[in-house]
Amino acid sequence: MKVTVSTLYKLKQDNQKISMLTCYDSSFAALMDQAGVEILLVGDSAGMVLQGNGSTLPVTLEEMAYHVRCVARGAKQALVLGDLPFGAYQASPAQAFEAAAKLMQAGAEMVKLEGGEYMAETVRFLTQRGIPVCAHIGLTPQAVHLFGGFKVQGKTEAQAQQLRRDAEALEGAGAVMVLMEMVPAPLAREITANCKVPTIGIGAGVDCDGQVLVMHDMLGVYPGKKARFVKDFMADAPTIQGAFEAYVRAVKDQTFPASEHSF
Ligand code: KIV
Ligand code: NA
Repeated sequence: MKVTVSTLYKLKQDNQKISMLTCYDSSFAALMDQAGVEILLVGDSAGMVLQGNGSTLPVTLEEMAYHVRCVARGAKQALVLGDLPFGAYQASPAQAFEAAAKLMQAGAEMVKLEGGEYMAETVRFLTQRGIPVCAHIGLTPQAVHLFGGFKVQGKTEAQAQQLRRDAEALEGAGAVMVLMEMVPAPLAREITANCKVPTIGIGAGVDCDGQVLVMHDMLGVYPGKKARFVKDFMADAPTIQGAFEAYVRAVKDQTFPASEHSF
């Protein structure tokens, strides 16, 4: 059955975990779709895993629209989520709307943007105009140069308070999903419990409503640094399709992420 935002809300309500993987082309989209992955995230991680950059900052809106078109052709049931790239949405709600409209016209069914409380006005602007938004908080990779590296967020009590406020403000502004990256597991658990919309974690512990990994990481083909939260599902799988299926199973039965993948 086609995955919609209603499906995702129902999964959260029923305490069933949501599986998400990044995807950039139509063939992998078809495999993930058949494996039962609910959400295909066309991530601006493309800038790193496809293009070989050291960050996601160089990715353009045109490149994102191209990958969204490719993925949308391969996805039958899965929901296609498109990342708004750096520089395409931060300037104003109107700029964000224009960029989001391009991704929606390319086949996205939801867009993701990075940022906390300060992006709430933009989230409201988009959702009031028919665009479902996933808010990405915690480690927001487009701000890597401000953070001084890819680091766990929310470790101090002041940072933890800010993250709680971020999630609340974004949900209040109409975000349909909240993604948390590199957040201590107990904090992600608390935010998830207080959030009416589903939360998705990456390096945020097992108690989020769902999980996401970058495809190249979970297939063990990314030559760069391997983050603590990554598991190589290809290590024990006979085929790529098998690795996707094992990932979905591990997310559903909560054997992934284990404490060794969490902070
Ligand atoms: O671009 C991406 O792959 C992402 C995930 C890390 C959540 O935003
Ligand atoms: Na991203």
